[in-house]
Amino acid sequence: MSKFIVRIMILPACALFVFSACAVRTPSAGGKASAPVITEYTPNISTQEYEKRYQAVYGKFTEQMAAEGNPADFVVDDGKDLFSKVQGSAGKSCASCHGANGEKLKGVAAMYPKYDPAIKGIDTVALQINRCRKDHMGAPELKYESDPQLALELYVKSLSNGVPIHVSIDGPAKPFYEAGKEYYYKRFGQFNFSCALCHVKYAGHMIRANLLSNNRHHTDHFPTYRLDWSGVGSLQKRFRGCNKNVRQEPLPFQSETYRNLELYLTYQGNGVPIQVPGFRM
Ligand code: HEC
Ligand code: HEC
Repeated sequence: MSKFIVRIMILPACALFVFSACAVRTPSAGGKASAPVITEYTPNISTQEYEKRYQAVYGKFTEQMAAEGNPADFVVDDGKDLFSKVQGSAGKSCASCHGANGEKLKGVAAMYPKYDPAIKGIDTVALQINRCRKDHMGAPELKYESDPQLALELYVKSLSNGVPIHVSIDGPAKPFYEAGKEYYYKRFGQFNFSCALCHVKYAGHMIRANLLSNNRHHTDHFPTYRLDWSGVGSLQKRFRGCNKNVRQEPLPFQSETYRNLELYLTYQGNGVPIQVPGFRM
């Protein structure tokens, strides 16, 4: 979808949204600075009705795509090659420490993002790969969304295909989860939207040619192939796209806020098996 069409789509949808939603932040008692209380939305339609609509809009198309194969499968292969390529001053490849076919990383991505005391924050698969390159290989970090970065991330995630997502938000992860949730419910941009308004409350409604998806399956298929990108992109690239659609300044890849948001959103998909690479319009 071109930027132009996105703009046209968003404008009429605004009228629908702007007047119908209520405030999601309520001030804390006593005027003390504390985490805002977020009133979660209830979806406007039932899960069954949502799934019916999803099938009606995307069902046939997805089946066709699956039959023709996913161009991103080649990117997974690139990632596999890179995994055993020696790079950096330590003379090591990923495989030197994590096994020839990444066997020691099987299932690991299903637990990401997760709290890591070493960075006192949320670690993502993408961030961890770059930390390994820097700290354990003496190799330069890969630029986010570059071909090799996406290939490695996709390969590592593919080692968890079929494994249900099970991220933890307990203990030290909790405040970061809450921060991600706050961002998800925060109204922003010229149009005053929040992620939750579109993907919780109005999930299953049409926004011009698009059916607004609910967030249960938002993280299980990334990095994904997407027709609109004519290529592969990460979950955080999609965050940036949605920010731009409502004219909010997108944040840098792997910024603290996006990592917290990734934790919040991935937790919504707990129990859903990882299936990368995805294929989307
Ligand atoms: C010299 C050994 C070494 C090399 C080479 C290495 N790593 Fe790591 N990796 C580690 C260690 C040690 C950890 C534990 C966390 C830490 O210390 O950063 C880790 C953690 C990880 C994790 C998270 C595992 C978990 O259980 O949470 C992933 C994913 C990962 N590495 C991927 C990679 C990839 C991809 C490469 C190649 C770009 C790579 N690593 C290269 C040593 C290595
Ligand atoms: C104006 C409504 C709107 C807002 C606000 C919005 N999005 Fe989206 N989003 C869309 C549309 C339209 C799509 C493409 C169709 C779909 O999957 O819903 C999409 C797609 C996505 C996808 C990909 C779904 C998939 O299956 O691949 C993710 C993830 C996502 N949005 C996250 C967010 C996040 C996080 C925010 C807040 C930063 C946000 N969105 C804000 C409209 C919105």
